[in-house]
Amino acid sequence: MSTLAILEFPDPRLRTVAAPVTVFDAELKQFVADMYETMYAANGVGLAATQVNVHKRVLVADMSDDRNAPLALINPEILEKDGQQVYQEGCLSFPGIYADVTRALRVKVRAQDVDGKEILIEVEGPLAVCIQHEMDHLAGKVFVDYLSPLKRGMLLKRMEKQRKASA
Ligand code: NI
Repeated sequence: MSTLAILEFPDPRLRTVAAPVTVFDAELKQFVADMYETMYAANGVGLAATQVNVHKRVLVADMSDDRNAPLALINPEILEKDGQQVYQEGCLSFPGIYADVTRALRVKVRAQDVDGKEILIEVEGPLAVCIQHEMDHLAGKVFVDYLSPLKRGMLLKRMEKQRKASA
């Protein structure tokens, strides 16, 4: 396994729309294993393929405290959503910045596993936030897109300052 380089905003490649996965082979399994390793190494709770510059509909997540509940979704689709929640989100492509985003409380998702088998799950709370956030990446969207221009500008300025300080 190996860790993959994570693209950081404002890298324009984060705006790429991912294509569906059609081949479920050893290469895909290796890629998912590398995504897990990359997510855990970065202490992230989710990672979309877009963030490692692979433009296929693949995401991984683990919202558990013990980091032992890995979930990989290939070609995820939201079938139903309801309710509303506000959650403070962060993103491995936006180091050091966090912001409240409003999303659906519950989502019903259809996806495939690494073997191409159908997965049907209903999740709520933080895991529902995570899946919606990662699915946005696959559509070329990022969480700061939901913020007001003023708030977004402030956060991006802060991120830039931190990046310069650590360079
Ligand atoms: Ni993210």
